[in-house]
Amino acid sequence: MDTIISIIYTLLIVICHNAQGQKNQLLSVAPDCPSLEKGDIYTQSEFLGRLAHQCRYDRLLLPTYQTGDTVYVHASAYVYFIQPAEAHDLNFKLHFLLQLRWTDPRLAYALYSPERSRIIGESDLRERIWVPHLYMSNEQSSSLMGTDSKDVLISVTPDGEVLFSRRMQAVLYCWMNLQKFPFDDQTCSMNLESWKYNASILRLMWEKNNPVRLSSELHLTEYSLLDFWTNESVVRGDIENMRLGGGRSGNYSALKFTFKLGREVGYYLMDYFIPSMMIVAMSWVTFWLQADASAPRITLGTSTMLSFITLASSQAKTLPKVSYIKASEIWFLGCIGFIFSALVEFAFVNTIWRRKKAVSLKKVNSKYILKSTLTPRLARKELQKELQESSPQLSKSRSCSSLNQETSSDPAGPGYNNYLTVHSFPSAMNLPTITTQSFDDLIGQGGKQQQGHGSEGSDEPPKHTWTTMTPQEIATWIDKRSRIMFPLLFILFNIIYWTFVYCL
Ligand SMILES: *[C@@H]1O[C@H](CO)[C@@H](O)[C@H](O)[C@H]1NC(C)=O
Ligand SMILES: *[C@@H]1O[C@H](CO)[C@@H](O)[C@H](O)[C@H]1NC(C)=O
Ligand SMILES: *[C@@H]1O[C@H](CO)[C@@H](O)[C@H](O)[C@H]1NC(C)=O
Repeated sequence: MDTIISIIYTLLIVICHNAQGQKNQLLSVAPDCPSLEKGDIYTQSEFLGRLAHQCRYDRLLLPTYQTGDTVYVHASAYVYFIQPAEAHDLNFKLHFLLQLRWTDPRLAYALYSPERSRIIGESDLRERIWVPHLYMSNEQSSSLMGTDSKDVLISVTPDGEVLFSRRMQAVLYCWMNLQKFPFDDQTCSMNLESWKYNASILRLMWEKNNPVRLSSELHLTEYSLLDFWTNESVVRGDIENMRLGGGRSGNYSALKFTFKLGREVGYYLMDYFIPSMMIVAMSWVTFWLQADASAPRITLGTSTMLSFITLASSQAKTLPKVSYIKASEIWFLGCIGFIFSALVEFAFVNTIWRRKKAVSLKKVNSKYILKSTLTPRLARKELQKELQESSPQLSKSRSCSSLNQETSSDPAGPGYNNYLTVHSFPSAMNLPTITTQSFDDLIGQGGKQQQGHGSEGSDEPPKHTWTTMTPQEIATWIDKRSRIMFPLLFILFNIIYWTFVYCL
């Protein structure tokens, strides 16, 4: 019994002693700061541990919290990689090294450790000292780069100048204007802003010399870099209340790095513009086919139309759905217009080909031919009216004959030849004169001439030389003209288009 009591007693004593010892240990560490005297004898991490010890360094406070001065943060960047994304994503990817430089007087250690030239550390050092908090206002996503540990480097010089570098990748928004697509230039920028402190407390500045340097191995696939520049500005903190609960407000210092990219047109020329020119040219083959060759001409027209639409839609897929008209769409409309006109031309020519009546023309030029093809019936009606006005006697016979002619010719084959043989005038008149007269009638200009002919007959030679053209001849004539007109108009369209694209 005694032994058990004594054991419990000794155990209690041991426990009590231990507890007291631990208490003593805690008390002894807390109050006095580690000395910085003879700093040279410590290792780098040991020295930094003393320098940035909680008792003398609060990393939540600004370097200048004692004086209230503005902290100037100088920035520079080295860009390794710019990759504009597909146009419909409206963003670009950037890989860069961002270097910030500021002075933190609390870290000046020249007095304590004169031998030490520099303290260099990575993320662990970043955890111990004050670092400005910047953010990219147009970022879509960003991250520190680094495989094993994040690529952060901090160095502190004896006079307290801190150099903070980090390697980052960021996907940033870039609101592209695609009106001139694919002949457009885009300006995209990276906006760096101070997150926590307003402009009177923290000022961001670009380094004086070459604030942004680009890697010489910068390859942009679809673009060429035309220019780049940097700007410093102050942005209005319009979300001030949300940012810091109303405590701090005002303007925030910001940095901007802008670069201008010109799109490389080569790809679009080879993959879109030249093929579409070829397709348009292909649609002209139809003019060399006969006007009644419906099957080949329709097939050619529709297949060129379809292949062009396929080509264009594969291009359009890569673009955002913006409401304004892009340069590529004007090209699309132009080309589809040409292909469509070639198809319409076929329909027109084919309709004429199937007409039965030959047409007489004052002159063989486009004005008269088109007039005759477009308004054959109108011309005839005008003629009748004119005849009735000019001479009632003659007009009776004429109108009668022309009516007969109309009825007789409509169901039958070649109209005018029939008319001439069936409704001939008295034998005193010779055939050629009648022919010219009847053509005059048809066009509706023969009023005065007829009066003359009616009385004098063959005495007077005909004033105009009229030609007859069969519908087939007219159709061929139109096709022949189209062979020249379509390419010429397309060349004109190209001249206007490319002038607008490159000169505006
Ligand atoms: C930015 O800087 C460039 C050149 O340094 C200058 O041309 C441009 O006007 C500046 N932009 C603004 C908004 O200050
Ligand atoms: C912010 O800047 C604008 C001009 O850039 C100025 O008018 C305004 O007073 C500034 N606001 C504060 C709180 O300093
Ligand atoms: C910046 O914030 C401080 C308080 O943190 C405030 O006293 C000062 O007026 C602000 N400056 C501006 C320009 O808003």
